[in-house]
Amino acid sequence: MNLSHPCDPIANAPRRIHIEKCRFNYENKSYRIVINKLEIHNNLKICFADLYLNEQFNKKIVIKAYGSTNSKHLNQDLYNVLVDEIKNHSEIEAKVGYSNYFSHMLFHFWTKHHIGIIFDDFGTTLDKINITNYSLKYKIQMVSQLISQVNFLQENNIYHGDLKPSNICMGPDGNIVLIDFGIGYLEEYHSNKMLNIKYNTTITSGSSEYSKIYFEYCAGNEFPKELFDKSQHFAVGGLIFGILTNKPTSYFSKCLEILISLKNPNEKLEKLNLPNRFKYFNKQFSNAICEFISKELDTVPELIQFKPILLNMFEYDYTKRQSLNLIASQFEKINT
Ligand SMILES: Nc1ncnc2c1ncn2[C@@H]1O[C@H](COP(=O)(O)OP(=O)(O)O)[C@@H](O)[C@H]1O
Ligand SMILES: [Mg+2]
Repeated sequence: MNLSHPCDPIANAPRRIHIEKCRFNYENKSYRIVINKLEIHNNLKICFADLYLNEQFNKKIVIKAYGSTNSKHLNQDLYNVLVDEIKNHSEIEAKVGYSNYFSHMLFHFWTKHHIGIIFDDFGTTLDKINITNYSLKYKIQMVSQLISQVNFLQENNIYHGDLKPSNICMGPDGNIVLIDFGIGYLEEYHSNKMLNIKYNTTITSGSSEYSKIYFEYCAGNEFPKELFDKSQHFAVGGLIFGILTNKPTSYFSKCLEILISLKNPNEKLEKLNLPNRFKYFNKQFSNAICEFISKELDTVPELIQFKPILLNMFEYDYTKRQSLNLIASQFEKINT
């Protein structure tokens, strides 16, 4: 069956299926979906389900979908969020290969009014897991997995751009998987074609530097890959801090608090031109975060050893931040 449509924006995305009454066929195999739970998340449907292949239980899946039977009620922005995510996954897959990154889409479906992606179920997100009883050794393993996944993507010039606890899953086997590549962006930022940085990631991803990069981009300025990579150190550092302190979301709520307080009418800030405003803003942000991290780590003796590594990740000057490879090796050293 030819499922493509003249204005199909993702006609070339792999593994397109057509679902009817919870069944679909792909490459001469028949699949059946049994939905166990349905949640609404940011107006998208998230279905937790079992996938049966040739009537045998195959695996647990999650379906992220959006649609409306009435085209008048279709919210095009929401629809496009999934179009972008499918595009991102196709591009990432073309670049690193299907099996080289865990978060790949298994299948996707598309009509003018319905769109969705099927993923493996990767478990519970970090914001919903109680990690209080995990040993420090185990938590360092989680940290290593996280760093290695972000690093793998960065080495391939893929930037997740929305790293936060609700976008990190942990399976029953203890494996950490990044999800939600809706705003991920790729290498093409150099050629200025595919840049897809959203201002709001400044807040949600806990990095003050996305806005700086965006500004440089709009001004037509070149910026080094190192800045791009290391802008993610804030979010990664925040996640590591959250794992170590058993409070995965605390860095992210603190970020919001700081950002709001810095954005409040501020005479000094108003007088500055845009580049200097970012400079001032990012400096203040870095100082406030470092103070917070320091204070928190000082209260737990076994965590004081991580203070230099973490404070370095939040350095104002990105060139002073260590590479993820080096950070990973420091964690490994502590764990041996
Ligand atoms: N593959 C998956 N495995 C397990 N849970 C998932 C998966 N994909 C999504 N979820 C759950 O659904 C929520 C929303 O999915 P996400 O892709 O982050 O969408 P949004 O763009 O709305 O943030 C996640 O925070 C997580 O709880
Ligand atoms: Mg998400």
